[in-house]
Formats: sequence, C-alpha cells, structure tokens
Amino acid sequence: MTTSLMSRVSPTITNMIRMDHTHVVAAFHQYQVDTPPRVKKGLADNICLALEVHAQLEEEIFYPALRELAPDETLDKAKPEHNEMRTLIARLRALQPQDPGFDQTVFDLMRVVLHHVADEETQLLPKAERLLGDQLSEMGARMTRRRLQLVGPRSGEIAGSMARSMSSGTLLAAAGALAAAGGLLLARKTQNPATRGQWFNPKRWGH
Ligand SMILES: [Fe+2]
Ligand SMILES: [Fe+2]
Repeated sequence: MTTSLMSRVSPTITNMIRMDHTHVVAAFHQYQVDTPPRVKKGLADNICLALEVHAQLEEEIFYPALRELAPDETLDKAKPEHNEMRTLIARLRALQPQDPGFDQTVFDLMRVVLHHVADEETQLLPKAERLLGDQLSEMGARMTRRRLQLVGPRSGEIAGSMARSMSSGTLLAAAGALAAAGGLLLARKTQNPATRGQWFNPKRWGH
C-alpha cells in the first residue's frame, strides 16, 4: 500500500489513542489482588510496555501538533504526567509480584493513568478533532509506522508477557463472567425498582 493511500484509509490518530486507552484500562481491570502472581507479572509487564510506547508516540506525534495550535494547560501537564507514569513503571519493574508494594504500585499507576486518560479524552482529543480534522488520518498513519519501529525490537518481550498474562485467561474470563452475573443478581435484589437494571443497560454502555 502506498504511503498516501495508507494515510487516507488510516484510522484517525485520535481514535487510535482511544483504542490504546481502552486496551490498557482493560488490562488494569483484569488485575485483581487475588490474581495469581505469574499472571499479575504478565499483566503488569503488558501495561508498562503499552504505556511506554503510547506515551512516546503521543510525545513525538500528537502533542507537538497540538502545541502549534494554542497554549493549553492540559497539554502542559501531559508530559509531566507521562514522567510520573515512567517513575511508577521503573518502581514496578524493580519489584516481584509477591512483594508487599507490588499491588499498590499497580494501583498507583492505574490512578495516574485514569486521571491522565480522562484529561486527554475530554479535552485534548476533542480539541484535536475540532482543529486538526483533515490531518488526523495522516497523523494516524504516521503513528502506526512509528509504532512498528518502536515495538519491533521488543517483540520477544511482548510475546513473553502476553503468554504469562493469558496463562489463566480462560479461567479468569470464566470467573469474571460468574462474578458479573452474581453482581447483577445481587443488584437486582437490592436496587430500588425505579432504578433496577439501569447500571447494566446495554444502550448506556454502547452495546
Ligand atoms: Fe494517551
Ligand atoms: Fe498521554
């Protein structure tokens, strides 16, 4: 595929950023205190690597384009927040999943990420879509090319952490489904009839 064709058909950079956020938040949701240590390590490794690549891509391609538009306080905070994540990632890599601080470091990282993702998704992405509309697909294509360069040398690392995080994946999925079903039954029993079922309204969750 030629570069120009790839640019026209590429997903926009803003939708790619949303997709990365969705994947990393889903990995955080799989991480629970009673998850087996081997799976915890696999999930943490996946999360750390995904965040490192994502942050670098944003810093190289997305933030500079926004910076050219107008001063923006949220944008000014974005790189320091990435650095805060990098500090927590380094701390996490120095720990084993059985160590007392491991869970808390994962949850500290999750808190920083959720806050940062909220700022990006409610302020920076809409701003980019208002002001950079026709450049967003071309920027998406650039992000894909750069992602391949960054991820290529780390493919062994990625395969290893994926295998660990998925070693109990089927069991985890089954346990998750059971817990969700149990939660739904409990909610039905305890909720006010007027609001019953609203928390799992498929329309509300976009299904
Ligand atoms: Fe992001
Ligand atoms: Fe970011």
